[in-house]
Amino acid sequence: MGKNLDALLKEERIFKPDEELVSNSNIKQWMDMHGIKNYDELLEKSAANPEWFWDEMARDLVWFEDYNEVLEWKAPHASWFLDGKFNIAYNALDRHIKSGRKNKLAYIWESEKGEVRKFTYFELYREVNRLANALKKMGIKKGDRVSIYLPMIPELPIAMLACARIGAVHSVVFSGFWAKAFQERAKDAQSKVAITADGFYRRGKLLKLKDTLDEVMEHIPSLEKVVVVKNTHCDLDMKKGRDVYWEEVIQNESMECSCEEMDSEDPLFILYTSGTTGKPKGVLHTHGGYAVGASTTLKFVFDIKDQDIWWCAADIGWITGHSYIVYAPLILGATSVMFEGTPDYPDPGRFWEIIEKYGVSIFYTAPTTIRLFMKYGEKWPQKYNMNTLRILGSVGEPINPEAWMWYHQHIGNRKCPIMDTWWQTETGMHLITPLPITPLKPGSAVKPFPTIKAEIKDDEGNTLTKGGGHLVIKNPWPAMFRTLFGEPERYVESYWSKFPDTYLSGDVARLDQDGYYWIQGREDDVLNVAGHRISTAEVESALVSHPSVVESAVVGKPDLLKGEEISAFVVLGEEYQADPQLKNELRDHVRKEIGPIASPSYIGFVDDLPKTRSGKIMRRVIKAKVKSEDVGDTSTLANPESVDALDRAI
Ligand code: WT7
Repeated sequence: MGKNLDALLKEERIFKPDEELVSNSNIKQWMDMHGIKNYDELLEKSAANPEWFWDEMARDLVWFEDYNEVLEWKAPHASWFLDGKFNIAYNALDRHIKSGRKNKLAYIWESEKGEVRKFTYFELYREVNRLANALKKMGIKKGDRVSIYLPMIPELPIAMLACARIGAVHSVVFSGFWAKAFQERAKDAQSKVAITADGFYRRGKLLKLKDTLDEVMEHIPSLEKVVVVKNTHCDLDMKKGRDVYWEEVIQNESMECSCEEMDSEDPLFILYTSGTTGKPKGVLHTHGGYAVGASTTLKFVFDIKDQDIWWCAADIGWITGHSYIVYAPLILGATSVMFEGTPDYPDPGRFWEIIEKYGVSIFYTAPTTIRLFMKYGEKWPQKYNMNTLRILGSVGEPINPEAWMWYHQHIGNRKCPIMDTWWQTETGMHLITPLPITPLKPGSAVKPFPTIKAEIKDDEGNTLTKGGGHLVIKNPWPAMFRTLFGEPERYVESYWSKFPDTYLSGDVARLDQDGYYWIQGREDDVLNVAGHRISTAEVESALVSHPSVVESAVVGKPDLLKGEEISAFVVLGEEYQADPQLKNELRDHVRKEIGPIASPSYIGFVDDLPKTRSGKIMRRVIKAKVKSEDVGDTSTLANPESVDALDRAI
């Protein structure tokens, strides 16, 4: 594998897009309408006048009252579509109900067990309205927060849209996170209502979600009501006066519910993501700009058309699902597949079976999933007819050229272009990405989306034209986050203070001679495990909260499948024995505190961690050790003997 990979990294092959795909593409048609001849001209024209471009895009949506101004930019604060009256849920549902798409399928949902539920736009609209009315009865008003803790079942998008419809702000917590993580996020958002399910199945195993909530409910003072979906019909305790069943609260509700007229800039949702400190960041998105940015990118990058079957195989608990399973496809009136299960359960053909069954034409997944399938071999996709596919996508981490080639060959049958989309929870929409008209290089996310001004900078702020550096964005975009909920200073400090009026992405990237971007990964203490952002500080504080642990240091260890794996080094209290059983207990503990994705793959017991004389843990040294690299200069270490101890622990 290693040798192959090297060859590919040096490989300069360019994959030209298919002529027919290009000429029929949404972006090409839009360019023709405006007399724009080629990709370079598209980028030039849009960069010269971003407001013109986004105004054009916003005109495709329905505004209750037109905006007066496209953008007000008082760095680092942007307002988009000023004074416009808007609701994203109206654009996702109502306008289709009034059009020929009323009875078109919005979602084809399939569960892990293979049950299928289908929703037309009209059916989805009615379900959303019933829940919206029920939430209103519980006292939820415009601006109130609702925490949603649901697995990948149709009630999840329904709950999000119901909140949006009445102007409530949803905060979805990934169902793979566990009790403490939910507690921290719901408490921070001061949510009044939580929406959850009795449980769900993962690889055939029942996971009881509501039980998890019961463990922490008393620590979330703002929480008044808990709405519970009967998903598995497992036993559970319902607390009188607080817990109510979804099915019961919507039973007598009307299927009509008026749509709240929001300001473009009113908040739509908070989604927590990992930062460099242990406290998650509450990334806040708005109705107007987010709707325009997310839908425009889906339309141009993935070229969604009415006859397409779109499948974004992410979880709605992450931004990918918010933008590209819920809001953007619904705004465009697309038909989406929504899948509850895992890629290789009950066997590694599961994804390909779904593509064949529903005739999926555009498929979007993460490199870690592709690498998993490479491991199982091409015999699995070969069993299925995937002729319907026309475009593929990748997101979440850099895709190594070898995985790109495998995806292209064995899934895309050498004919589907791969859209390697770079973006973040904060950006809300793709920022660096190919379009169906661009030549591709395996492993490159190509160039910024029209209007986006990206740059690579060195530490002094000089703009680099080659070599690696900080990936920054120089101008605002409509789907950008507006702040961190409850932490306006942290918004400025974390993202806008290193270079003036410039967005610091936290990623390192380099440019090649053709102006193509190659994203290299995070530059801070944030790990990327199977495409999920996890902060080392968060895992460390979970470990330290266990009675046996005095101190811990967490670093990423490169992994062929997951990108990175979590390695933890812990110092135990004197009365504790370093034994394998305690390692398991610590893994379980992190699972409970954060979730299974944060559970360390490696735990090493050490007497001491490498520290500077001022007592700071030298992660650089630990990182080098787990990567079997040279540790470099250790002259500032107060305890050099701790470095050898790391070796023994590894
Ligand atoms: C981080 C954002 C955006 C949806 C999923 C993750 C990494 C994302 C790519 C890509 C290389 C990528 C970056 C980024 N990332 N897409 N195509 N190529 N790296 O959202 O949890 O906010 O994580 O994911 O490191 O900063 P997120």
